Amino acid sequence: MSKPYIVAIDGPAGAGKSTLAKQLAKALDIAYIDTGAMYRACALYAIESGINPKIDSPKLRELLDTAEIDFRPVGDEQHIFLNDVDVSREIREPHISTGASDISALPFVRDLLVTMQRNMAKGKSVLMDGRDIGTNVFPHADVKIYLTADVKERANRRYLELQAKGDSSTYETVLEEMISRDEQDKNRAYAPLKQAEDAKLIDTTKLSLEESFEALYQYTREVLQ
Ligand code: DC
Repeated sequence: MSKPYIVAIDGPAGAGKSTLAKQLAKALDIAYIDTGAMYRACALYAIESGINPKIDSPKLRELLDTAEIDFRPVGDEQHIFLNDVDVSREIREPHISTGASDISALPFVRDLLVTMQRNMAKGKSVLMDGRDIGTNVFPHADVKIYLTADVKERANRRYLELQAKGDSSTYETVLEEMISRDEQDKNRAYAPLKQAEDAKLIDTTKLSLEESFEALYQYTREVLQ
C-alpha cells in the first residue's frame, strides 16, 4: 500500500500481542506503538507519586498533565520514556499491570492517551496494539485483528516469561491476576476490551509463535493487497 495505513491489534493480556505486533511491524516496515506501555507509564507515574491510580482525583489529573510520554529507539528496540527517563523495564512489574488496568478505566486518562495515540499516527503507517484500537482509537483502521487464547494458556505464557526474568510469582497468582485484569478490562464502562465487528479473530491457544505470526502476516497481506 503506498498511502499510510493503520493495523490495529487488540486482545487480552498474554495472547502474544506485543511479541507478534513487534514482529509484524518489522516485517511490514512500519512504526509500532504499544499502547499498553502508555497506560503502564501513567500507572507507574501515579504509584511513584503516591497517588491511587484507581481514583480520578484532582491530584492525578494535575500529575498526568505534566506527563511526557514518548517512544524512542534504543538499539533495535523501542523503549518508552516518561519525562525523559527510560521506564521500559519498571512498567513490566506485576503491580504496574494491575495499576495500568485500574488507571485505564478512567475516562480522562483514556481521552488523554487516545489523543496522543492519534497524533503519533498522523501521516504515517503504524501498527498499534492494545484493547480499544479497532473499536475506538481507529475505528476505520485498514486491518483489524483480535488476538486471543485460552486464559490458562495465556497465564502459563506470562508465568514462564516472569520466571525467565527471575520473578518468583506462582502460576496460580499469575492466573488469578490475569482473570481479574480481563474482567476489569472487559467490563469497564468506557471503551472496554471487545472484538470489533470487522476484526479478524485469531486464537493462538494451539499455535506456536511462528504459526501465530504466519496467521497474522498472511491475513494482513491479504487485506492490504
Ligand atoms: O497490553 P498491556 O498488558 O501492557 O496493557 C496494560 C493495561 O492497560 C491493560 O490491562 C488495559 C490497559 N490498556 C487499555 O485499557 N487500552 C489499551 N489500548 C491498552 C492497554
